[in-house]
Amino acid sequence: MPEPVQADIQQGYDKVAVAYASAFIHEQDHKPMDREMLRRFADSVRGKGPVCDMGCGPGQIAAYLFHQCDLHSVFGMDLSQRFVQEAARLNPLIPFRQGNMLKIDATDNTWAGITAFYCIIHIPHAQVVEALKEMGRVLKPGGLILLTYHIGQESVHLTDWFEEQVSMDFNFYDPVEMETYLQAAGYTNIQTTLRQPYAPEVEHQSHRAYVFAEKPI
Ligand SMILES: C[S@@+](CC[C@H](N)C(=O)[O-])C[C@H]1O[C@@H](n2cnc3c(N)ncnc32)[C@H](O)[C@@H]1O
Repeated sequence: MPEPVQADIQQGYDKVAVAYASAFIHEQDHKPMDREMLRRFADSVRGKGPVCDMGCGPGQIAAYLFHQCDLHSVFGMDLSQRFVQEAARLNPLIPFRQGNMLKIDATDNTWAGITAFYCIIHIPHAQVVEALKEMGRVLKPGGLILLTYHIGQESVHLTDWFEEQVSMDFNFYDPVEMETYLQAAGYTNIQTTLRQPYAPEVEHQSHRAYVFAEKPI
């Protein structure tokens, strides 16, 4: 059974999955820094083993890695079963499955890389190190994670989203705080890149962070 916070997140995304997919499935067309970071990530992990797009939502990150970066070992994982179905429908060449980053159904030291775009924002601050350690457990030594999040101190609680009633927390993070969590979870070579928000029609007006970090060899 998921914990109450995760149950709220799962149920919320199950409700909005189809509307979210149509809003964001082509977002990389308007996000040059996403594209640059994903190409850099793909060039580092290609040929080294399975790559998980954690918290994949409708699968647009996995699709970019597969189709634009020739990273054919990518698969998607998400807490929301409805998102998994939608991602699979939209991206028939890519495997997707349900999973929880706090308790991943995979053996130690098996994945070459993980992209985690805006899913850590649904983990409470007190559990972020636990989530990062769990992803580190399944990474191979030398494996790479690319994590993104909204920068800030606040936690936004949504009760209405895409015309659905939800109860979902979106936690913003400070870059120094997140680097401290990554160090505590055992990662090395931590590199954070910050950017300003793109235009309002492209995304929510928050500053963004991209972090590369490695599991030590
Ligand atoms: C803001 S959406 C981001 C989706 C996609 N990565 C993107 O960039 O559009 C957050 C995603 O994280 C997933 N998620 C939240 N908590 C999770 C958990 N504990 N394990 C796996 N996925 C989770 C949600 O179901 C949702 O698909």
